[in-house]
Amino acid sequence: MNDKRELIFEELKKIKTQLDNTSLAELFNSNPKRFEEFSISFDDMIFDYSKVHINKEVLSKLLDVAKTCSVEAKRDAMYRGDKINITENRAVLHTALRNNPNNKNKEIYVDAKNVMPDISEVLEKMKLFSEAIRNGEILSSTNEKFKDVINIGIGGSHLGPQMVAQALTPYQDGPKVHFVSNIDSSHLSDTLKTLNPATTLIIVASKTFTTIETMTNANSAKKWLQKTLGVKNADLHFAALSTALEKTKAFGISDDRVFGFWDWVGGRYSIWSAIGLSVMIAIGSKNFSEFLKGAHEMDEHFKNTPLEENMPVILGLIGIWHTNICSYATRAILPYDERLSSFTSYVQQLDMESNGKRVSSDGKELYEKSGPIVWGEAGTNSQHSFFQLLHQGTNIVPCEFMVGVNNHEEDMKIHNDLLVANCLAQSQALMNGRDVNEVTKILKENGLSEEEISLLAPHKVFKGNRPSSTLMYKKLNPKTLGKIIALYEHRVFVEGAIWNIDSFDQWGVELGKELATKMLSYLQDTNSNKDNLDSSSIGLLDTINSWNENK
Ligand code: F6P
Repeated sequence: MNDKRELIFEELKKIKTQLDNTSLAELFNSNPKRFEEFSISFDDMIFDYSKVHINKEVLSKLLDVAKTCSVEAKRDAMYRGDKINITENRAVLHTALRNNPNNKNKEIYVDAKNVMPDISEVLEKMKLFSEAIRNGEILSSTNEKFKDVINIGIGGSHLGPQMVAQALTPYQDGPKVHFVSNIDSSHLSDTLKTLNPATTLIIVASKTFTTIETMTNANSAKKWLQKTLGVKNADLHFAALSTALEKTKAFGISDDRVFGFWDWVGGRYSIWSAIGLSVMIAIGSKNFSEFLKGAHEMDEHFKNTPLEENMPVILGLIGIWHTNICSYATRAILPYDERLSSFTSYVQQLDMESNGKRVSSDGKELYEKSGPIVWGEAGTNSQHSFFQLLHQGTNIVPCEFMVGVNNHEEDMKIHNDLLVANCLAQSQALMNGRDVNEVTKILKENGLSEEEISLLAPHKVFKGNRPSSTLMYKKLNPKTLGKIIALYEHRVFVEGAIWNIDSFDQWGVELGKELATKMLSYLQDTNSNKDNLDSSSIGLLDTINSWNENK
């Protein structure tokens, strides 16, 4: 138990009770400099948290929380390569992957070995391979240029490349990339249906090369290739991204087509490693370097900026305020950028797999709440679905808006103006709301009777005072995207450091995997002993048995 942190949390709860008497709108009215005081600029990005219901006193106490929880020392330990993932006894070095690995002066050691030359070597191999695929130096088994690339992977081996490829669509000028993750046969089958095996390259992305979804999909894809191309030629249509080199060999992929990484790269932090190969093929190695550069700039900002001006630190502290002091159970990520429509799913894994923990690093039950539920959807689509609840529901959801000032479609400026206007309007509406006097006035102006007004007015009132923040950037290019992703990675780090949990393991996904293997034995009739099964599972298995069309 961190007594000092608890003490500050108690103080913050008291301040919150007082602050509840002053609305967000009133805070703005009484301080014309609120926007300047509660926003951080960094390069082509600005993070505006002035619409979060805090004041200077809250901010200063939150900064004390960060200090008392040694956020800076923990951050430095991560950058240094200390084994901060204690349950797996691993270093956490995704920052090294984007730390300009070609710079010979940079050295980062894990188990007395400098990891930088290895990073540099794999990056170079990826560059050569991706450029050769793009310019046709490497051809398919039928001597044709590869036109399509399928990344088969799941979790961190899928969400990152899929989200980044989609976000950088305007930069895609290589083969078309597709993504298959789900074990559901429809995912692979619907993808393969549109493709020609002779011109398709399949990248099997799996850190462990044992994940059942990925290996099942990879084997089915192999059969699809073999059917048209023959057994030997099919192998020429594969590449692998993995730390398990023996397993990739056993699958039939030659070492020159295998791109390695290391146990200190967590799945959800792996887009910067070989897992980014499909993206590099799609956008080219130069754009991929820009993407790495952007993340590195955010790493430097996180490492060198004082806490009070540090974007990931402030984003993390706002998370702590909402989770631990205000007791809000969820947070909504709302990118007003259709190309970031997968960003929420990406952050769901990043945040919830990292900080969805119920024990502290030393194995003790947490007495404070840890990671909240992350959800959301791109605007403006989301406005037409769940925003009703955000504005008038009984649950308060802190909203994290994201928006780019410029679009890539120069002749479609009106679209972007409307997009940005909607984004700003939503955060304003959440904050200001509309009180009963204003509602009554509007209804009167519209000619409604007193009786009609008293019936309708309560439904039209917006209480407002709902917190939001806005991350605004100039344009979604590779570098900016790198910065945004690194910002969210470090935010998760800051929160995990304050909760004192291991943000880099994921034991919570194991039990379900284990039980699925057992369930499979019932489905495939290799196990009939259901003695220890609950009646729900037995009932469902019996129904499956009687409805099964393949028996
Ligand atoms: O099941 C969770 C998980 O272990 C994630 O952490 C990881 O990103 C994903 O599975 C995929 O793992 P792999 O890359 O080893 O196939």
